[in-house]
Amino acid sequence: MNVLLLGSGGREHALAWKLAQSPSLSRLYAAPGNPGISEEAECVTLDVNDHTKVAAFCRDKDIALVVVGPEAPLVDGLADSLRAEGIAVFGPSKAAAQLEGSKGFTKDLCARAGIPTAGYVRTTSLDEARAALARFEPPFVLKADGLAAGKGVVIADDIEAAEIALADMFGGQFGKAGAEVVIEEFMRGEEASFFALTDGTFILPFGSAQDHKRVGEGDVGPNTGGMGAYSPAPVLTEELEARVIDEIIRPTVETMAADGTPYSGVLYAGLMLTDAGPKLIEYNCRFGDPECQVLMMRLRGDLAAIMLACARGELAGVRPDFAPETALTVVMAAKGYPGTPEKGGAIDLGEAEAGEAKVFHAGTAEKDGALVASGGRVLNVTAMGANVTEAQRIAYEAVDTVSFPSGFCRRDIGWREIERERRAGE
Ligand code: AMP
Ligand code: GLY
Repeated sequence: MNVLLLGSGGREHALAWKLAQSPSLSRLYAAPGNPGISEEAECVTLDVNDHTKVAAFCRDKDIALVVVGPEAPLVDGLADSLRAEGIAVFGPSKAAAQLEGSKGFTKDLCARAGIPTAGYVRTTSLDEARAALARFEPPFVLKADGLAAGKGVVIADDIEAAEIALADMFGGQFGKAGAEVVIEEFMRGEEASFFALTDGTFILPFGSAQDHKRVGEGDVGPNTGGMGAYSPAPVLTEELEARVIDEIIRPTVETMAADGTPYSGVLYAGLMLTDAGPKLIEYNCRFGDPECQVLMMRLRGDLAAIMLACARGELAGVRPDFAPETALTVVMAAKGYPGTPEKGGAIDLGEAEAGEAKVFHAGTAEKDGALVASGGRVLNVTAMGANVTEAQRIAYEAVDTVSFPSGFCRRDIGWREIERERRAGE
C-alpha cells in the first residue's frame, strides 16, 4: 500500500523509518518531511489546512493510509475530511481529538467516568479564576484550555504568581487557547507516559516511556517539548500498567464510544504515579516527541499494517512485538532553545550512525548541500541497550561524534533509572 505521512519532526522521522521497513508498504510520501525523512520517503509540499487538496493528493497517488504525526491537523478535523472521502487515517476525528484539544473537556470526561486525575475547576473569566484560587493550596496549577504548543501550563508557587499568570492567560498570552483556564490540584509523584492504540473499541497497549521535560540537567530550568526519553519505563510496572488500562484508558475509550465520538489512533496518557496510584495528568492524541523515537526503535513488525488495522477498526488480533531491551534518545537542540534558537548552525553527523545508534532528524534543513539546524530541537540520537545504563552509554558515544557547535544537549538522560539500576546492582 501507499502511505502519506504528515509532519516534519523527529517523531515523524522515526515513523517514516519504521514505515519504510514495513513489508506491506509500497510507496511512502511525507509532507513536508525533513532531510532525514527524505531518505525514507518522497517528500512533497502539501498544505494540511487545505483538506480538499490533501484528499486530491491521496486519490492521485492511490494512498491507502494517511498517518498524521502532530496534533494540530487532527484538532482541525483533517481526519474527518479524509474519511468522508473514503481515505483511511491513523488519528482521531476532530471530536475525539478534543482529548488533547481541550483540557476542560478531558477533565469533565474524567469526572463523569470516575478516572483518577487532579481535582479541578474550569474558569472562563479572570474574576472567576481568581476567586477559584481560594479552593486550592499552593503550588497552583493553571492551564490554558486549548492547544498552546506545550506552553500553556503554569505552576505558580504562590497566590501573587498565580494571579499574574491568570492575568496573562486571560489577557491573550496564548490567544484563543487561553479564553478558558483550568485550575488544578497539584499532584506529587514521578511522571511516566503510556501509549495505547485503539480503534474505538479494542485497546492495544503500545509501550511506556519517560521524558525529560526541563531544559537543564537534574530536571531544572524552563519546560521544553522534551530533551530525551527512554522506553520502557520500569517505574510503570506490569501491575501499574494494568491499573492504567483498567482505571484510565478503558473508561476513556468506552465513554468516548458511548458519547458517539469513538477515539481512533494512538492515545498518549501523561501519568503521575502518586502514592494513591496512577493519575492522569493529560491526554495527547498523537505520539510523544521524542517518546515515539524510542518506541519505534523497539517495535518489531509491520507498522504500516498495524496502523491500517487501527484505522479500519480491525485492531483485535493485532499483536505488536517490542524488543525487551531499552531504547534511549538524546535530543540535541540549538543554543537558545526553548527560547529563540540559533538557526543555520552547521551539523556534521560524523560517525554517529557507524555503530548501533540511529540519528533521527527533527529541526534540520539542507543548505547548499550541507546539513544545518532549522529549529529548536534538531537531532535525536537514539540507541538500544540491555538496560538504561547501557543504552545511555551507546547514545552518548554517538552524540560525541556529532559536530554541532551551535547546539547543546543534556548529559543525564535516563538519570533516575540509572540511579535505580546502580542501587539494584550494589
Ligand atoms: P501538561 O502539558 O498538562 O502535560 O503539563 C506539563 C507539565 O506540568 C507536566 O508534565 C507536569 O510536570 C506538570 N503538571 C501538569 N499538571 C499537573 C498537576 N496537576 N500536578 C502536578 N504537576 C502537573
Ligand atoms: N514529549 C512530550 C510530548 O510529546 O508532548
